[in-house]
Amino acid sequence: MAIIASNFKTNHTRKSTALFVNEVNEFLKTNEISSDVYIFPTSTSLDSFDTVSTFTIGAQNAYATAKGSFTGEIGTTQLDEFSIKTILIGHSERRHVLGESQEEIAKKFAFYSELGYKIIYCIGEPLEVKEQGLEKTLEYVYEQFEGIDTNYENLVLAYEPVWAIGTGVTATNDDITNVHSAIKSKIEKPLLYGGSVKVANVREICQLDGVDGALIGTASWVVEDFKQIIENTKDV
Ligand code: PGA
Repeated sequence: MAIIASNFKTNHTRKSTALFVNEVNEFLKTNEISSDVYIFPTSTSLDSFDTVSTFTIGAQNAYATAKGSFTGEIGTTQLDEFSIKTILIGHSERRHVLGESQEEIAKKFAFYSELGYKIIYCIGEPLEVKEQGLEKTLEYVYEQFEGIDTNYENLVLAYEPVWAIGTGVTATNDDITNVHSAIKSKIEKPLLYGGSVKVANVREICQLDGVDGALIGTASWVVEDFKQIIENTKDV
């Protein structure tokens, strides 16, 4: 069954997130859809949502700490308040916009895996690397596994080429299957694709060999569209 995940990034408020989550939950219940669905709201919108067992709310980010002096960050004390046990690690915006190094990311991974969190671990190459071909792309992507325990049982991977994120330019089916089959040959974990996934192409992408689902930003922020994405992939 496809895994469908929505990354809200810096979108939605506490109020609109609650409405969104409830609407998706009702949709999954009413239509008896059994796909694994995730939503990653802003940290200010985290809460104890009452959802069906296949629908999980996760954190977009948290620091590798229970609590302490890390201005602007949250730790497990804040996540525990809402029983959040799922986290995105290594997202391209954390790496390239917020400047998280591989070392910091690996530290975060070690901390949250030790605690048994479900980790959606993101990897992906920037445009200048993609332009150098598949071999360089794979080299770059493999470096993003440095310090990461890829045997960790509660791990889901997401391949998100940086040049495809938020640009409207989805990777081609060949781009996706080339990278996915290479990663899959080394790491036997569910592998999502992310990067300009849309209502219109999500089904086709999820049907590709080596693709176990999608991590979606922009196209998932309108609840009607997100429900359509779930509908379009419910039997994939
Ligand atoms: P996008 O974002 O769907 O807007 O390209 C994907 C992501 O960053 O997870």
